[in-house]
Amino acid sequence: MSFQDRTILLGVSGGIAAFKAVEIASALRQQGASVHVVMTRHATLFVTPLTFESITHHPVAVEFSRAWETELIPLAQHADLFLIAPTTANVMAKLAAGIADDVLTALALATRAPLLLAPAMHTNMWTHAATQANVATLAQRGATFVGPEHGWLASGDIGLGRLASLEAILRAAAATLTRQADWQGVRVLITAGATREAIDPVRFISNRSSGKMGYALAEAARARGATVTLISGPTHLPPPPHVNVTYVQTAEEMLSAVLAHFDESDVFISAAAIADFKPSRPLVQKLKKTARKSLTLELEPTPDVLRTVAARRTHQLLVGFAAESENLLAHAQEKLRQKNLDLIVANDVTLPDAGFEVDTNIVTLLTRDGKVETLPKMSKREVAERILDVAKGLRAG
Ligand code: CTP
Repeated sequence: MSFQDRTILLGVSGGIAAFKAVEIASALRQQGASVHVVMTRHATLFVTPLTFESITHHPVAVEFSRAWETELIPLAQHADLFLIAPTTANVMAKLAAGIADDVLTALALATRAPLLLAPAMHTNMWTHAATQANVATLAQRGATFVGPEHGWLASGDIGLGRLASLEAILRAAAATLTRQADWQGVRVLITAGATREAIDPVRFISNRSSGKMGYALAEAARARGATVTLISGPTHLPPPPHVNVTYVQTAEEMLSAVLAHFDESDVFISAAAIADFKPSRPLVQKLKKTARKSLTLELEPTPDVLRTVAARRTHQLLVGFAAESENLLAHAQEKLRQKNLDLIVANDVTLPDAGFEVDTNIVTLLTRDGKVETLPKMSKREVAERILDVAKGLRAG
């Protein structure tokens, strides 16, 4: 692990774990980083700025001053990483809301460097719904979390809330740095969301996909430097910035939009939940219930987008999803083989906090070379990053 020539902004917020930030600053500097510390006023009650200045050989920012424009904004612009350790519940809430009432939170808005948060607080504060909602917001926006860990807390209780270990924080910092711009120059085509197949002018057949997983992939790939085209079914999500988005309704429209971009893509990720059947004869006028005792809809198959493009692939890497309610791995393995994929993301849609509509996911990644990796529950953005890590490895290999 080396941080040679990296510029790291280290935010220290006001909790008892603030003293551990001294060790973090020291380790980063010893491994070659240029470390610039910014503290909240409360943090200075636990550790003095002089301690950090002595270790980092750089001034520590606590209050707004003329240095904001002349030194801190330029620093925010060229920093490679913004690590906040410890991150208190209060600072996390401010980050989630975009509040910038001190130098630390203002820098978090001013920088485009990836944000790595190492929370530390009492278990009750960490598990509080308000804190968890802020964690979800920040993770969805691309922040990475390391910890908290389980153990002794300052209150004397034992529980979740301890600052992650120095080793874990350094590992997470190194991983965040290598993800930066590692997809530069790669053209990624992603499908997301559900399709809609018309029954009549007002009704359709669809499914519970929200599009969140595909949008998280688009945002993550874009943040890592890829050129991203997103083919999206109808969703409530805002279009990801700097991504070329095409909206479609039906499986057939999804197929033609994908075919229009496939040849110029290097990686295709099929995250959309595409209807497998559509009404054979959609009605031009609204279906009336008058005098009907029952209703039978006749359905016919739609095209399989992934299978169709797999037959046309030249150099593209293909990533599919498998949404399953039983025999997860066997079914996913079968889809990997049948659809001729390089990687499949298997999703048990019956688990709580996984699959459709929610912000988290629990997946297993299966690759064409037989590797199987089950990931713990994490935000869809973090799942997206892991999928990109594995896909990058497959492209290189
Ligand atoms: N897929 C596709 N076109 C379809 C249906 C699915 O491209 N008409 C893609 C999905 O985007 C996903 C993969 O195929 O990447 C598997 O989708 P899934 O719904 O899990 O499986 P199906 O192939 O539809 O099979 P089944 O519904 O029988 O499980």
